[in-house]
Amino acid sequence: MHRIGLGHDTHRLGPGDGLVLGGITIPHDRQALGHSDADVLLHAITDAVLGAAALGDIGEMFPDTDPANKGRDSAGMLAAAADRLAAAGWRIVNLDCVIFAQRPKILPHRERMRERIAAILDLGIEAVWLKAKTGEGVGPIGSEQAIAAECVVLIERN
Ligand code: CDP
Ligand code: ZN
Repeated sequence: MHRIGLGHDTHRLGPGDGLVLGGITIPHDRQALGHSDADVLLHAITDAVLGAAALGDIGEMFPDTDPANKGRDSAGMLAAAADRLAAAGWRIVNLDCVIFAQRPKILPHRERMRERIAAILDLGIEAVWLKAKTGEGVGPIGSEQAIAAECVVLIERN
């Protein structure tokens, strides 16, 4: 038996020194702002994983009202979601993601991100794909006020 999950996330961007994305830090002159490390891609993946098995969402699991979640490592949150998935008898088949960012260029960092995400989820790298799109210079993405990400995941019964 198979099921699919969908995740989406957006974060505000501000002046900064390095963008945390897909579990790695990319050199950039802006950073994502948020309660945790603001890794928009790992947050979208976490919601896709939880949603596929109807196990809740990232905000439910890690409320931003809880001081323990301030500055929390998103890789740890994703790993916890994956543990919950496994405990419910499911495993991930593959995931596919889109990053919406005017800058920086994501393509040069894609393989490192895929490796990192696969390692967090204990998957082969071929099970993880991602790509990026600009905002074509318009709207909050295009004007670099925001960064967003989406993810779909397929799971199957263990
Ligand atoms: O050409 P099109 O309008 O379809 O897409 P785009 O948003 O202009 O992006 C063109 C290509 O640049 C994408 O297919 C990605 O390979 C790459 N890209 C990237 O590496 N990093 C981004 N932040 C945005 C796009
Ligand atoms: Zn987020």
